[in-house]
Amino acid sequence: MHIAVRAEEIREQFLQELEGLPHDAHQIKLLKDKYLGRKGLVADLFSTLKDVPVKDKPNAGKILNELRQSLSIKFESYIKTLDSNGENMNHGDLTLPEDPYLIGGIHPLTHTLNEINSIFIKLGFSTVYGPEVDTDFFNFEALNIPKHHPARDMQDTFYVKDGVVLRTHTSNTQIHTMLKNDPPIKIIAPGRVFRNEDISVRSYCLFHQVEGLYIDKNVSFADLKGVLSHFAREMFGQNVKTRFRPSYFPFTEPSAEMDMSCFFCDQKGCNICKYEGWLEILGCGMVDPEVFKSVDYNPENWSGYAFGMGIERIAMLKYGVKDIRLFYEGDTRFLGQFV
Ligand code: DAH
Repeated sequence: MHIAVRAEEIREQFLQELEGLPHDAHQIKLLKDKYLGRKGLVADLFSTLKDVPVKDKPNAGKILNELRQSLSIKFESYIKTLDSNGENMNHGDLTLPEDPYLIGGIHPLTHTLNEINSIFIKLGFSTVYGPEVDTDFFNFEALNIPKHHPARDMQDTFYVKDGVVLRTHTSNTQIHTMLKNDPPIKIIAPGRVFRNEDISVRSYCLFHQVEGLYIDKNVSFADLKGVLSHFAREMFGQNVKTRFRPSYFPFTEPSAEMDMSCFFCDQKGCNICKYEGWLEILGCGMVDPEVFKSVDYNPENWSGYAFGMGIERIAMLKYGVKDIRLFYEGDTRFLGQFV
């Protein structure tokens, strides 16, 4: 048979087989051997070259070389597409040492929470946990959040059924703790909270908070300022300054928000502190007498302070994380940076 015709036959047959080839290293090697191997079909055809008349030899040789080259190129580019699809073809160097063990790490939120806990535990606070599914009474009513308050709106709160919610803050644990214990009380309550918010770089439908509550005789706002300023310095560095801005929460009176000096720009103004030089980090205040009444504590005898902070917010500031969603996606490229 004429070499050019046979070469064309081989090419077509090769392309057909390549198309139906299973992604299997052994099958791929067989195909390569069959066509391009030392005893393969192309080599076979080359061996017939000696019978070709001298005058036709250059042309026949050229056809054969082109055949070998085009099959090799097709084959190599097929292998490349497999690699880029992530198929494990095992055609690497088997003598290479294996990958080192991947070491897991503590999630940055857990790590931040551990740090927060340990600062307060050294100050004599104990850790308690409250329920994530709770009644209207614990999440709102006993905290002096009135019936018409926007926080109770279906838009903001996930209702499990009438009167039962996914807690919107860890403040519910204040009420559980006070109903179960007599004062003095000195607790922090970390945990997960839920809000029906649009998901964005800044907000997520669940996040974490740490609640703090200290109740004793003659607890003053000065005690609150002292403890929370100490916390900010332990958490973010001894040079951090704090300030307390008047604010409003239904369960504290007076209420405040604590800001700390922006350590990203040394208070010169940057886009993280929105050119204010201060970063808002938590809400706090003196426990409202109405809250004491709902748990049967006599506000004449007891006073106390409470505070609440978002763990994600603290972690984002501490590690310079710009998108809150990264904490929940489990992407090891993100998590691996904290190992
Ligand atoms: N519960 C508030 C929130 O989710 C945070 C908070 C503010 C808690 C002031 C407190 C407090 O205990 O005193 O935004």
